[in-house]
Amino acid sequence: MRRRLKVVIPDIRRREKILQIRSLRKVFRTGASDLTVLEGIDFSVQKGELICILGRSGCGKSTLLKILAGFIPPTAGRVILGEEPVVRPGPERCVVFQEDALFPWLTVEENIAFGMCQHRWARKEIGEEVDRFLSLVGLSEFRHYLPREISGGMKQRVALARVLILQPRVLLMDEPFAALDAQTREEMQQLMLSLWEKLSHTILFVTHDVTEAVTLADRILLMGKDPGRVREDIRVDLPRPRKRDTEAFLFFCRRLFEGLRS
Ligand SMILES: Nc1ncnc2c1ncn2[C@@H]1O[C@H](COP(=O)(O)OP(=O)(O)OP(=O)(O)O)[C@@H](O)[C@H]1O
Ligand SMILES: [Mg+2]
Repeated sequence: MRRRLKVVIPDIRRREKILQIRSLRKVFRTGASDLTVLEGIDFSVQKGELICILGRSGCGKSTLLKILAGFIPPTAGRVILGEEPVVRPGPERCVVFQEDALFPWLTVEENIAFGMCQHRWARKEIGEEVDRFLSLVGLSEFRHYLPREISGGMKQRVALARVLILQPRVLLMDEPFAALDAQTREEMQQLMLSLWEKLSHTILFVTHDVTEAVTLADRILLMGKDPGRVREDIRVDLPRPRKRDTEAFLFFCRRLFEGLRS
């Protein structure tokens, strides 16, 4: 009798593919000429992955994120979320930008509740969820403050809480901590990692900061420029919490710095 071969499939293959990006191309028509910003972008995202998109200024990172969010259409190619093509913005894909986009006339808790109110959740449920997310981002004591009365880091915590509360299938983040000072930025990275471990959401995080990418990512998509392409897809298999002064951490940083330079 023939013996059956036992195939061991790595864990990652068994996870659900949540987002597929196929042959994406984006051309902006500017006056008389065309500017090809993205070309041949192809990758998939597994459920629960934390992917950093790393690249130099102008390589098309924000354009890619805007297409994934459904804010702008690609010139060619497809984005598929689960089984459905992405053709417009939707609550299952939330975006956090660098500059906070809080409503200045609403308090911290009202800003966090805003999206839920739009989706007609029950009042009691909204109250409970807002309490939970205020506590998760450490802002319970500041719930009645207005955006102008809190710091930049606190504003980004509100921005994070108000999208996470909607339980998006994919969270898109465009350099969300770039405007913060170094220490606050590190605190925000740790907060984001702890929320990701608790809530297991899927994140695409745009940055041009190598250390930030190695601190956060399961996978780093290194983008090249003119036109923007994914040049390398690097798995970062370092255990967490990651120490920045270890040889393994610095190895990834060196490799990425070289990639950005070439
Ligand atoms: N609406 C638009 N019309 C014309 N050109 C655009 C438009 N949006 C972006 N671009 C161009 O596309 C290129 C990529 O821009 P994008 O904002 O995606 O880069 P980025 O990688 O996010 O840069 P940064 O790191 O500075 O944020 C740039 O040359 C930019 O000028
Ligand atoms: Mg950008």
